[in-house]
Amino acid sequence: MCGIVGYTGPRQAYPVILKGLKRLEYRGYDSAGIALVNSDGLNVYKKKGKVAVLEEEMENLHINSHIGIGHTRWATHGEPSDRNAHPHVSQSGNIAMIHNGIIENYSQIKKELLKKGYTFKSDTDTEVLLNFIDDILQKNECTLEEAVRIALRRIVGAYCILLVHKDDPETIIAARKGSPLVIGIGKGEHFLASDASPIIEYTKEVVYVNDYEIAIVKPDELILKNLGNDKQTPFITKLNMEMAAIEKGGYDHFMLKEIFEQPTTIYDCLRGRLDAEQGTIVMGGIQKYADQIMNAPRIIIIACGTSWHAGLVAEYIIEETCRIPVEVEYASEFRYRNPVVHKGDVIIAISQSGETADTLVAIEKAKEQGAVIVGIVNVVGSSIARASHTGSYTHAGPEIGVASTKAFTAQLAVLTMVALKIGYEKGTLNKERFMYLCKELSEIPAKAEQVLKLDDHIKEIALKYKDAPDFLYLGRGYNFPVALEGALKLKEISYIHAEGYPAAEMKHGPIALVTSELPVVFVATKDAYHEKVVSNMQEIKARKGIVISVITEGDTVSPTLSNDVITIPAADEIVAPMLSVIPLQLLAYHIGVAKGYDVDKPRNLAKSVTVE
Ligand code: M6R
Repeated sequence: MCGIVGYTGPRQAYPVILKGLKRLEYRGYDSAGIALVNSDGLNVYKKKGKVAVLEEEMENLHINSHIGIGHTRWATHGEPSDRNAHPHVSQSGNIAMIHNGIIENYSQIKKELLKKGYTFKSDTDTEVLLNFIDDILQKNECTLEEAVRIALRRIVGAYCILLVHKDDPETIIAARKGSPLVIGIGKGEHFLASDASPIIEYTKEVVYVNDYEIAIVKPDELILKNLGNDKQTPFITKLNMEMAAIEKGGYDHFMLKEIFEQPTTIYDCLRGRLDAEQGTIVMGGIQKYADQIMNAPRIIIIACGTSWHAGLVAEYIIEETCRIPVEVEYASEFRYRNPVVHKGDVIIAISQSGETADTLVAIEKAKEQGAVIVGIVNVVGSSIARASHTGSYTHAGPEIGVASTKAFTAQLAVLTMVALKIGYEKGTLNKERFMYLCKELSEIPAKAEQVLKLDDHIKEIALKYKDAPDFLYLGRGYNFPVALEGALKLKEISYIHAEGYPAAEMKHGPIALVTSELPVVFVATKDAYHEKVVSNMQEIKARKGIVISVITEGDTVSPTLSNDVITIPAADEIVAPMLSVIPLQLLAYHIGVAKGYDVDKPRNLAKSVTVE
């Protein structure tokens, strides 16, 4: 949540920062702002709205500056407005600061500053922290770095902050706890950002800053220190990412590009791990902890949003193949109650971004109680990946559309491999079934390709129902979480109210909603419960509901009960969710586009939820 960018070096800072903000805009787009330092001091520009609004505002300005910081905001404290936009400038006018995170004890500090005569121009927690730092700087006559260090020792909450001082046209002071920060190392220049996407154009050498570290960044020097002022050795990592991965590549939207990438991303995820012919699954991180996982009395899956839906599918798969009890928890609930976690319990944390604050804190909580943490994460080097004992990357590449699509199917691919591997080694999955499921899994990329060929047909269905005010999504078994995911996609992208439900639960209440106006999407691919789902379809039809069904080829009954049918290739029920979700992603996409919405940046949302 919130994207931050910084640059110090020989280039003009403004274009580097502007381009970086555009790449990070998926993290929040309530306002954008830039602070540049030059011989005139601080030059700060900020505007409510997307980065393009700021760009227009700055169009005719020619500011010669080689250092600056930029911010794209997802509002927490204070409505989206020019005055709440970052960067904020301290009361003395000496320091500009941007912030990603939430300062939890800001109101106490604000009271103290108000007593000292400080006034505030914004409603943000950020301005409070900034004036707190400025106050320390002035009282102690210390360096900015020291003032930041002293201030942060009192701060409760999450932050990644970048600061520049009007009298220092070389140095950016940065610090993080809980919100991400990557520093790119160029030749005589440094780039700072919330993720690597603004950096890869310039350098592939990066340092991921750790929690409680402060970075003192000059064009040709990077010093890392902890809050105790001890120097830390920067650990330089090589980025394994290409520019093409963060560009639209001819598609109208990142979301569509990412939906269409799925045959490749699922393949990449399986590549080098699954050998269906030999019947082997090689996963180093899982192998290392295989005994603990196999003998775990219980597995708890922790995640949010779409990743939580992947966790629900995994619950079904793991219980079926490994016979280990699984619980799936919303990270935000888990972290605030007093959950019973025993030593030896295995926690599987699922996250695309690897930065979701609720998931991260939930992991720490479970770790304290002796659990083994297995991270299933997409973003390499992210906080959750680093906080986990072991795990497996999903290798889906950067996901930029705010609505998660390819990350979901990659998560399912990894989780299925984990379950099959553990089940086979444990002996709860016999060789024949294991070999069969490995083969089924290996065929998913090609089958996903076939599903994508239905795009035009799905678009027609989307145009037919785009004005419906409500949708229901129903499924049973492995397809129940897919129904939840379909409903979430529609809500996010088209702002249509949608609910996902287990199809059999309809009769316990929600069937009262069914009218001749209500589209009901059935995820009804062939599985153990297929006949039951067909009965549920009958129940909807009998009440004149509109049935849109996603079915398996060869199904001759469901079409007779459906107004519209989307037919996908046959696959075992364990792997079918990777296919049945694709039409639902496309349906949401086309409805959102038809309604004229910005599907890559839906209102009120941000890609990476680094606040609780
Ligand atoms: O990065 P994560 O997978 O941890 O994110 C979890 C959710 O915030 C995320 O899935 C969110 O629900 C998406 N907007 C869904 O499309």
